[in-house]
Amino acid sequence: MSFKRTLVTAALPYANGPVHIGHLAGCYLPADIYVRYLRSAGKDVKFICGSDEHGVPITIKAKNEGISPQQVVDKYHKIMGDAFKEFGISFDIYSRTSSKTHHQTASDIFKKLYDKGVFTEQVTDQYYDEEAKQFLADRYIVGTCPKCGNENAYGDQCEKCGTSLSPTELINPHSMLSGSKPVLKQTKNWFLPLDKLSPKIKAYIEQHKDWKPNVYGQCKSWLDSGDGLQPRAMTRDLDWGVPVPIKGAEGKVLYVWFDAPIGYISATKDLIPNEWEKYWKDKESRLIHFIGKDNIVFHCIIFPAVLMEHGEFILPDNVPANEFLNLEGDKISTSRNWAVWLHEYLLEFKDKQDVLRYTLCANAPETKDNDFTWKDFQAKNNNELVAILGNFVNRTLVLTHKYYEGHVPDALEYSKEDLLILEEITKAPDKIAASLEQFRFREALGELMNLARIGNKYLADTEPWKLIKTDEKRVKTIMNISLQITCNLAILCEPFLPFTSNKLLAILNINPIKWNGAKQTTNMHPGHKINKEELLFSKVEDAEIEAQVKKLHDSKEANKAKLPSPEGEGLGVRSPQKPEITFDDFGKMDIRIGTVLEAEKVKGADKLLKLKIDTGIDVRIVVSGIALYYTPEEMLNKQVSILVNLAPRKIKGIESQGMILMAENNKGELSLVSPVKPDVNNGSVVK
Ligand code: 2FM
Ligand code: ZN
Repeated sequence: MSFKRTLVTAALPYANGPVHIGHLAGCYLPADIYVRYLRSAGKDVKFICGSDEHGVPITIKAKNEGISPQQVVDKYHKIMGDAFKEFGISFDIYSRTSSKTHHQTASDIFKKLYDKGVFTEQVTDQYYDEEAKQFLADRYIVGTCPKCGNENAYGDQCEKCGTSLSPTELINPHSMLSGSKPVLKQTKNWFLPLDKLSPKIKAYIEQHKDWKPNVYGQCKSWLDSGDGLQPRAMTRDLDWGVPVPIKGAEGKVLYVWFDAPIGYISATKDLIPNEWEKYWKDKESRLIHFIGKDNIVFHCIIFPAVLMEHGEFILPDNVPANEFLNLEGDKISTSRNWAVWLHEYLLEFKDKQDVLRYTLCANAPETKDNDFTWKDFQAKNNNELVAILGNFVNRTLVLTHKYYEGHVPDALEYSKEDLLILEEITKAPDKIAASLEQFRFREALGELMNLARIGNKYLADTEPWKLIKTDEKRVKTIMNISLQITCNLAILCEPFLPFTSNKLLAILNINPIKWNGAKQTTNMHPGHKINKEELLFSKVEDAEIEAQVKKLHDSKEANKAKLPSPEGEGLGVRSPQKPEITFDDFGKMDIRIGTVLEAEKVKGADKLLKLKIDTGIDVRIVVSGIALYYTPEEMLNKQVSILVNLAPRKIKGIESQGMILMAENNKGELSLVSPVKPDVNNGSVVK
């Protein structure tokens, strides 16, 4: 079937942390390559993404950082959006699910399903944390996965084996909020009856045997194994999310996995308010979701079920999910800081976005989990980008300036060997496109590099630098062909290496040319003047790589003392116990409750706040290293615990007369230690 237009979505990342290479390799880079290719091929395509701002991952982060969920999503929405932009991920819109449009859209879709009688209403036993006085949905609860034994499985999913779970299936469940063992308590929720919908879903999946084997296989195993699909609650007892828009559901919100994929629809509405329906409702539109493997069930089963029951929308046509990327042989982990963060990469490898794009694409976890190593990154840069692509382009540009003062020479007469090369050139766009259309990005990149290899071999075989002394006419033809290859490389590398493509087009002094233009061998016109050559790539030295590996291992060492905690944190720091002390040792510390009367930043010190505190025994000044976690305004009138008999010391020229007590989580983030009850007077003794 041929389609008139394509809507490409990339999974909406939770707005609870910066972006790392695993995100890029798993989802955003392949999506971007695909979209850039479609655009270049002149196809009608829209590329949709945004922040997933609801759900437990956000509220847990807010709790850890001591700020509100809205502050969390505002902070990370910007950080993530900026990182994607810096790496050339060319979304047409990077939206967010806390937007008005999204709340309205998700609410309307839920209401429509509710009115159609799709949901079943059920009172069920849900885990409840009696200490935190809260129901424990999804990621608020962790325990052992009944399928694979992973001790850090979440209440909704085990990220190790991909199994979709309900909290009551977890073995040895415990609360992420207090660490305590939860109790079961009754609550009412609205369920999507996936069991009843299973035949329809099955028929839909079976129409898609063309999907990647890992995706089709996972779907089939959910449908066919054990008890098959089970009803799934689409509402939650939480206070952060889209409110459930029906009577009797006050205080409940939509399940984040109900609202998040609808975010693709709301973002399209925001992008093209008058045309969005064309992309979502016309049978000649094609919907493609790029995701990581942990999102397969939600995009292939739950979201299509919602769309089917709604009735007006097209269904996903393909879901090219990738497997996971590991780092130096170990699983990427936010909480253990075992990751390469995009913003940190750019600090050390300025302007080398394309090198990372290249390495991640060449090594993409397309069919199995794959490993990123810094050694391989260096090899890909030095042995492929520099030695093959960069080398060919540079030789061509340098010789063009040397022999013709930068003017494109005429191809005067083609030899047999030239004609074979020209044929290879004209075949390249279709070869690369065929791989891209099947979501085989590594293969496509390999085809691109083959064209550069052809160019290199052509120069090595014909040796224009020798021939120039004896046969100037022949050299003109060789250089003309080499410039045509260079130009076509600039066109064809654009989806993979957009920064390099732009740079090369500027050097060649030409405007962008569409994909099929690379079937021509006459894009560089005789007489056209090119600009001065510049190196496209530079070598990465051993020392740079060693520094990166050391940085990773240093952070591993620093984290060794901490017990493993599930990704998304919550269980806090577990540094080893300090040597034993006596009761008298402890009794020497005079810790009081005080109230902050004034707070201001300390000039020239990002981390410090100067606080004036009423300790109940006096009013004193304390300098405290909490400025990264609390603003002066937030500190005003806060009750704090203060060690009052610590010898005064000067910090940044200010005498600090005590120390504020703080809890530090496993990422080094600080939170005040304050009394829980409101009626604790200043001067109260902490003992
Ligand atoms: O796994 C995640 O990061 C989810 N926030 C992905 C959501 S994709 C879509 F449904 F929005
Ligand atoms: Zn598991």
